[in-house]
Amino acid sequence: MCGIVGYVGGREAQNILTGGLRRLEYRGYDSAGIITIDDKGTASLQRAVGKVSELDAVVEKSKNSNHIGIGHTRWATHGIPSERNAHPHKAGDIYLVHNGIIENYKELKAELKNHEFASDTDTEVLAALIDSLYDKDTELFDAVAQALKLVTGTYGIAVVSTRQPEQIVVARSGSPLIIGVGDGETIIASDASALIGHTTKAIYLNDGEMAICTADNVELRDLAAQPLSAKVETIEVDMQAIQKQGYDHFLLKEIMEQPTTLRSTLSGRILLDQKQVRLGGLNMTADELRDIEHITIVGCGTAYYAGMLASYYLEKLVDGLTVDVVIASEFRYRSFHLPKNTVALVVSQSGETADTLACLREIKQRGVRTLGIINAVGSTIAREVDGGIYVHAGPEISVASTKAFTSQVSAMIMFGVQVAQAKGAGIEVTSKYVEELARLPEEIEKVLTNKKDEAKAVAEKYAEYDHALYLGRDTGFPTALEGALKLKEISYVHADGYPTGELKHGTLALVDDRFFEVFLVLDDWLFDKSISGLSEVNARGGHILAITNSKKEVDAETVVRIETDLEVLAPLVINVFQQLFAYHIAVAKGNNVDQPRNLAKSVTVE
Ligand code: AGP
Repeated sequence: MCGIVGYVGGREAQNILTGGLRRLEYRGYDSAGIITIDDKGTASLQRAVGKVSELDAVVEKSKNSNHIGIGHTRWATHGIPSERNAHPHKAGDIYLVHNGIIENYKELKAELKNHEFASDTDTEVLAALIDSLYDKDTELFDAVAQALKLVTGTYGIAVVSTRQPEQIVVARSGSPLIIGVGDGETIIASDASALIGHTTKAIYLNDGEMAICTADNVELRDLAAQPLSAKVETIEVDMQAIQKQGYDHFLLKEIMEQPTTLRSTLSGRILLDQKQVRLGGLNMTADELRDIEHITIVGCGTAYYAGMLASYYLEKLVDGLTVDVVIASEFRYRSFHLPKNTVALVVSQSGETADTLACLREIKQRGVRTLGIINAVGSTIAREVDGGIYVHAGPEISVASTKAFTSQVSAMIMFGVQVAQAKGAGIEVTSKYVEELARLPEEIEKVLTNKKDEAKAVAEKYAEYDHALYLGRDTGFPTALEGALKLKEISYVHADGYPTGELKHGTLALVDDRFFEVFLVLDDWLFDKSISGLSEVNARGGHILAITNSKKEVDAETVVRIETDLEVLAPLVINVFQQLFAYHIAVAKGNNVDQPRNLAKSVTVE
């Protein structure tokens, strides 16, 4: 959830650390801090509440030319956002930055009588524990390893000591950590975005692994100090991909680039002439695909809604297949049973979401095959699944997920087509999906071009409301859930999605002038049912914004017509309008669109 960085090498560390933190800021922006140490062991600590830009101002006043240091940008879990709770935390000669949660910190704290605690954080307890084990005859690595044997919880940590100012000790259990191997320098980070421009060679640390990092060497060991071999990989992210490229916000850039990112998702996988799909990374034979009887889709937030929308298509595509979609944070603790011939689709943009990762491990333990629907290349979930589909939507920086949703749903539909093919389904079943997937990028392009001004105007019309209901039927329901999530997470408007048919079972009682209602009216076999639901709200004086791909009459306060002749995939086109609508309401409210309050991009804690 937090972002951590480290640097040891020939260059001045301060700017490299703050530069890395700026790249990782989407992981948490409650406070930030760095510590650097000179060759004689003198430490220089700078911390600030809020964004990295606040820290920059502090660092500007205390510049130094130190060559080693660690840094942190925080998403608060234990202790309010404040300077005293900001990382790095100090104990004796050591300084520590941490991403994760030390669950038994209270018990440990009670034992650490010699340390005077300066913060409310679980992290300072770990620092104090390491310090209590770091006597004059003990190496930093050994003190850290001994301490980690006593903690329960999750961590990605980097530790420096004024006594050994030539090395950084890092360790990982549950939270991501990557080590960039440079020429005479080593850079540590929570994800690859902080390494761009420094090196393309990296070591992905796995759970239970530690490393001693110096300017010229990275030595991997386990907690028992046994040496481990390091696998150096190449990271393929370019600088352009993580820049706004002239847009006001990453969110708008990521919404507007969907035709391109979706083409990357589809590229080489859609065989339009044969009306077929060919997915490379599943690691499944045609027989294994044919034998699938049940699919369980697991994810959180937008990934969960992507799974829910895809489930409607999978059921329609694959005769006799049963599909369920589960919320990871609940599923991981349920005593679930998965039927035979189940395949689990594990959906995650970041590939690091703790609850989704835990579900993956639970499901694997039951011997069920797991396939990842992942965006972040090299992420933990991508490494642990049995196979899967990289959606190739490129780095998604804005906390609100947009392009990943469109690519995740499209990837799962492609999977459904491949399974249907393996089960001998006729072309009449699959061809419509293949054709519409192939045309989806241009249909989305049309909405982005023709509807962006209307989205802004309609958003300004509804920007004053504090409450919204999103309603849809069939594939319109999960799309409504996703629309409501987008609005609430960036505009802070209380928004909830419901199946239109549920209105009269309670939700209708909410309809009054405090609310507006977004109705997704699909031009499908349930059109009339959707219109009945809409009339029920009209009858109670609702303020309805209807978004429809139909040319038929729709009686609502505001009607937005999405011109597309896609049928089955129309919800994905309509959803792009929802994304623009939510974006413009958030902008109208003056919110930090890319870094909404209280949230972070990658949820690596429970
Ligand atoms: C979506 O806009 C949110 N950022 C959040 O709900 C997100 O979808 C969820 O945390 C899952 O993240 P993941 O796809 O990286 O696993």
